[in-house]
Amino acid sequence: MSKEKSNEMWGGRFEEKPSDIMEQINASIDIDRRFWRQDIDGSKAHCEMLVKQEIIPTADGQKILEGLDQVASEIEAGTFTFSAALEDIHMNVEARLKDIIGETAGKLHTARSRNDQVATDFRMWTRGANSDLVAKIESLQATIATLSSKHASDIMPGFTHLQAAQPITLGTHLDAYAQMLARDKSRFEDCTKRLNECPLGAAALAGTPYPIDRNFTAQKLGFDRPMPNTLDAVSARDFANEFLFCCAQTGLHLSRLAEEIVLWATPQFGFIQLNDQWSTGSSIMPQKKNPDAAELVRGKTGRLNGNLITLMTVMKGLPLAYNKDQQEDKEPVFDSYDTLVLCLEAMNGMLESASFNTERMLESAELGFTTATALADWLVMTLALPFRNAHHVTGAIVKMAEDKGCKLDELDLADMQAVESKITDDIFSVLSVKNAVKNRNG
Ligand code: ARG
Repeated sequence: MSKEKSNEMWGGRFEEKPSDIMEQINASIDIDRRFWRQDIDGSKAHCEMLVKQEIIPTADGQKILEGLDQVASEIEAGTFTFSAALEDIHMNVEARLKDIIGETAGKLHTARSRNDQVATDFRMWTRGANSDLVAKIESLQATIATLSSKHASDIMPGFTHLQAAQPITLGTHLDAYAQMLARDKSRFEDCTKRLNECPLGAAALAGTPYPIDRNFTAQKLGFDRPMPNTLDAVSARDFANEFLFCCAQTGLHLSRLAEEIVLWATPQFGFIQLNDQWSTGSSIMPQKKNPDAAELVRGKTGRLNGNLITLMTVMKGLPLAYNKDQQEDKEPVFDSYDTLVLCLEAMNGMLESASFNTERMLESAELGFTTATALADWLVMTLALPFRNAHHVTGAIVKMAEDKGCKLDELDLADMQAVESKITDDIFSVLSVKNAVKNRNG
C-alpha cells in the first residue's frame, strides 16, 4: 500500500492512505453536499464570532469570509469539484477554502469540531424543510377547502366498513382531510420549535477552552438559544426522527385520501373523474384509465415509514456522544422530504383538476337503506321508543323494503304501520337522503 497521505485534516498521525473500500464506506459527500449552504452559513457565523471574541485576527476573518463566499459561488455555479477522498461537505469546503486563501483557512476550525458543525447544519436544513412542507400542506389545504365549499351540499354515501352507512355531504368528507392536514401542519411547526437550539460551541463533545460566544452564533443562525448540554448537542438526533415521523404521518393521511381516489375512480364507484394529466393508460387494455398518481402516493407511504424506522434503528443503543453511525442520519431525512413534497404536489394537482360525479354520488347514497338510522332516530324522538326498540323496528322495516325491492321512502305508510302502529306520515320527512343529512346538525 502506498505511503502517500490522503487526508490533510488529520494527516499528522497517519502514515497510510485509507483503502478504497474504507474511503467508500466513509464518504458521505454525495449525500451531505445537499446542505452546503447551511455549512457555509454556519462557518461564516462561527468565523465572525471568532473575530468578535478576538480568537482570530480581523484580517484573517475577513479573508476567510471572502473565501467562503467564493466557495459558495463556485458550488452555486456548478464549477466546484466534490471529492470523496475529502469525505464530507465540511472537509470539501475547508479544503477548497485553503486552495483559495492558503494556510489562514486552517484558523476557521478553531473552537469547533465537525460534530457540532454537522449537527448545526442538519438542524438548519431540517428547519427549512419544515417550513417548505408547511407551505406545501397549506396549498393542498386551500385546494381541499375550495372543493369542500363547492360541494357543501352534495350528498354522498358515508361509509363504515366500506359499507354504505349514512348519507353525508362530499363537503364534509373532504373537510375531514383538511382537518388531518391542519394537524400535520402543526406537527411540522412544532418540530421546528423543539429543534431550534444551536449545537455550535459543543465542539467534539466537551466544549472548548476558547472564549467563544455561543449566544452570538445561535442568534446569527436564527436559533432560539444554544443547546445547554454539549454531549446532547452533538449526539441528539431526535429532531430528525421527529421530522421523519411528521413526514410519515402526513404521508399516511395522504395514502388514505389516495385510496379513496383509487376506489372512487373505478367504474363501479364512478364518483370521481381524474384529469388525463393525472392518469395513465394501459398498454394492453384500451378502455383503462389508471389512477397511478394516487396509487403512488399510497405506495410511497412505505418509504416514509421505512425512513423513520431506519433512523430510529441507527440511533438505538448508541452510547454518548457522537458515533460515525450517525452519518447515516441524512439520507432518510432527505428522501422523506423529497418524497413528501412530491406526494403533496401530486395530490394537489390531482384534486385541483378532478371532477366529482355528484349525480352518481347521490344515487349511490340512496342505495343500501342509508336513512335507516334517521328512521330509528325519528322513532325515538317522535314516539319516545327506547333506541334499542327503535333499532329493532327499523330492522324489520328495512327487511320489508328489501323484500319488496324498494327504497325506504317508497314504502307505504300502512306497511310501516304493520310493524309499528304508532308511525305517522311525518316519517317521510326523514326518509329521503337530503332530509336525513339536513336533520343531523348536532
Ligand atoms: N460527515 C460526518 C457526519 O455526517 C461529520 C461528522 C464527523 N465527525 C467525526 N468525528 N468523524 O456525521
